[in-house]
Amino acid sequence: MARPFSVLFVCLGNICRSPTAEGVMKHLVTQAGLSAQIHIDSAGTAGWHEGKRSDDRMRRHAAGRGYALDSFARQVRDHDFATFDLILVMDRQNLRDIRAFNPAGEQMHRVRLFCEFAPDREETEVPDPYYGGAEGFEQVLDIVENGCKHLLRHIQSQLS
Ligand code: 4NP
Repeated sequence: MARPFSVLFVCLGNICRSPTAEGVMKHLVTQAGLSAQIHIDSAGTAGWHEGKRSDDRMRRHAAGRGYALDSFARQVRDHDFATFDLILVMDRQNLRDIRAFNPAGEQMHRVRLFCEFAPDREETEVPDPYYGGAEGFEQVLDIVENGCKHLLRHIQSQLS
């Protein structure tokens, strides 16, 4: 079988937005029977929460829609640029920050804004919910569900 198509979701802390995208995408990929063909991971541009579980509030809101967030936070590594076919960042600050891990910039064509895959949403970034209330976590889920649905179709069209 061909090498799996691999996607890395990236946010700032890797405890709210990107682990949600990882959990939702894994859910959809499993439902589609494509777990062996699509590899999914997430990381943060900052290493503050390295090794921690996702934010309790984010996990609770995700569980309310049937998604288990079971990843542990890690920081982006230079090597990710060699490993992942597609690196999807949640906001434009992530896009600026991730350049530090690929200073020569030759792999930046792999990096795109997550919201490019969420055409049914008005947002062009996934807003950081960390310092806000419940509605921010629900908004993350709304955007991520839409983006992951379209992302899966995009990847399916790339699989041979
Ligand atoms: P995330 O949210 O980037 O979606 O994981 C945040 C998590 C933690 C912090 C900021 C944003 N923080 O400042 O610790």
